[in-house]
Amino acid sequence: MASQPLSPEVTGSLRTILFAVLAWVSMSAFGAGDPAAGQAQAAVCGACHGQDGATGIDPSYPNLAGQNERYLLTQLQMIQAKTRHAPLMAGQLVNKSEQDLADLAAYYASLPAKINQAQGDDETLARAELIYRGGIAAKGVAACTACHAPTGDGNGPAGYPNIGGQPSAYVIAQLTQYREGDRETDEAYGGMMRGVAQGLTDRNIAALADYIQGLH
Ligand code: HEC
Ligand code: HEC
Repeated sequence: MASQPLSPEVTGSLRTILFAVLAWVSMSAFGAGDPAAGQAQAAVCGACHGQDGATGIDPSYPNLAGQNERYLLTQLQMIQAKTRHAPLMAGQLVNKSEQDLADLAAYYASLPAKINQAQGDDETLARAELIYRGGIAAKGVAACTACHAPTGDGNGPAGYPNIGGQPSAYVIAQLTQYREGDRETDEAYGGMMRGVAQGLTDRNIAALADYIQGLH
């Protein structure tokens, strides 16, 4: 039986479907990270962040395990582009493709988050909790809980980081950097963390960091 040539309408719509499929395939190829491919690159990261992604060799190194994928990916992109100044990280991301960064983000997001303990006395922790849950209205400090959630888990789809269990030395360094304008990675969010940190004293920051370390 001789096959009928396809009409121009049919070829046209087939082509549209084909383009749609190709666009979807390339979006999923570059958009989503593959945790297994991330794990294959992660041994070198483990030398500083711990093989579980949550036991940094220094208390000023952040936990990566259980952090949300969107936040991890944007930080990796900014560290690679040197928009975020992180001298110890600088050499780690050279020659990594966009897909490599997405795979690393997916891998660390797939690991279980670490639970830590606060160290301070009850009175200091109670003071920190008041700020975490209620902010400091007189100084324009917004309640942390609004974006980072009562448990410190953050908001994955919005890319608000999970901060619960982060070592206090790391959190002190970050909040101080935001306050001094040395960390500007919140540009896409209208500078919201720089705004929040503006009204925090060193004492507030130390108390909050300890409280956050024990949060889960
Ligand atoms: C030589 C030690 C070292 C190595 C190796 C290293 N890191 Fe880091 N990393 C750090 C330090 C220190 C910081 C905190 C930087 C700062 O001061 O802001 C950091 C920060 C990060 C952050 C930001 C975390 C946050 O909460 O904002 C991510 C993501 C990250 N590292 C991923 C990686 C990945 C992925 C690798 C492997 C490809 C890696 N690191 C290798 C030391 C290291
Ligand atoms: C309006 C939303 C919002 C509020 C309120 C807020 N944060 Fe954040 N926070 C963010 C976002 C978004 C980021 C990530 C920005 C970036 O990429 O630098 C962030 C980042 C952080 C980080 C850095 C995390 C890391 O792994 O490096 C810390 C620490 C932090 N916030 C603590 C706090 C504390 C403490 C408060 C309350 C005093 C607070 N935040 C209030 C949205 C908020």
